[in-house]
Amino acid sequence: MSDRTPIADRSLSRSWTDDAIRLIEADTRRSADTHLLRYPLPSAWGADVGSALYLKDETTHITGSLKHRLARSLFLYALCNGWIGEGTTVVEASSGSTAISEAYFASLLGLPFIAVVPATTSSSKVALIESQGGRCHFVQNSSEVYAEAERLARETGGHYLDQFTNAERATDWRGNNNIAESIFAQMQDEQYPVPEWIVVGAGTGGTSATIGRYIRYRRHATRLCVVDPENSAFFPSYAEGRDDIVMAASSRIEGIGRPRVEPSFLPDVVDRMVSVPDAASIAAARHVSTVLGRRVGPSTGTNVWGAFGLLAEMAAAGRHGSVVTLLADSGDRYSDSYFSDEWVNEQGFDLTGPARALVEFEQDCTWS
Ligand SMILES: Cc1ncc(COP(=O)(O)O)c(C=O)c1O
Repeated sequence: MSDRTPIADRSLSRSWTDDAIRLIEADTRRSADTHLLRYPLPSAWGADVGSALYLKDETTHITGSLKHRLARSLFLYALCNGWIGEGTTVVEASSGSTAISEAYFASLLGLPFIAVVPATTSSSKVALIESQGGRCHFVQNSSEVYAEAERLARETGGHYLDQFTNAERATDWRGNNNIAESIFAQMQDEQYPVPEWIVVGAGTGGTSATIGRYIRYRRHATRLCVVDPENSAFFPSYAEGRDDIVMAASSRIEGIGRPRVEPSFLPDVVDRMVSVPDAASIAAARHVSTVLGRRVGPSTGTNVWGAFGLLAEMAAAGRHGSVVTLLADSGDRYSDSYFSDEWVNEQGFDLTGPARALVEFEQDCTWS
């Protein structure tokens, strides 16, 4: 009988991982926090409406959107779990913006990156992924991205980041300068420092999960409202208390709304959901772009549509306070679509009703 103790050793050299984490931490240290903009509500409303609206401007991340935070968290999560090493091909299922940010981090670490994206993804997003050295792999329907990403990761011996499953667990919801901690810190010296409402959309559901958990953890009175576009499973599943709803069509508001209820969407930390018509999201994105003098993406329209409704509700109840929402990405990525009248007409959107509602809101803070 051998007196040797059996040993199984799977340890790889730690030095590549150490250096990868250092590179990401150094990148974070070189970056600044995003701005919290005060949205100019009409001065003509008078003293009865004392509320304030803020936009957390996530366009100022190096890769131009809210997804920069998620991509950093997913890479750190995968590195610290030992799932990514030197030379690992990194694969992701994305509607575009996440892949742009992930392509940036893959390039920072010198790793190959493949984004599985719907064929409808805007050409400027595809160009941004490719300019970071990423490769795009197209599927016809957005519901196909998951299986295709899994298959490619298997075939290449790579790692599927799986934002839709891992977003809620990869982000440190207690703090570590997550988006919620940043919003509450930046609100500190405002007239109403604790927002009545925070309004966000859901793609993975990760942002709403982080904010909802943080609000509870810090015992804030703030409520969380999730706005959802047409053809998304999140709203009907929340309203009906089911998680098995699958939609036949894809969301037409890039970045938010999903055909299935994603594992990262946590309905129990959401206080309210509002279903926003796509024409309203587009009209609101154009309206906000005019007010700010710079183009905002369509999901910012969805966010602001929800925020305006809440401000009007507060005004009708005689309550003053603050509402915070996100400026998730820039409208410059969408000049050929949501900002093109031709494209809007081709898609069959009629913006006249929502545009009228926005004018009425500007006049007297009412919401029909
Ligand atoms: C463009 C865009 N992408 C994504 C999200 C939400 O992202 P997630 O649910 O993946 O955290 C938002 C939220 O407002 C958004 O506007």
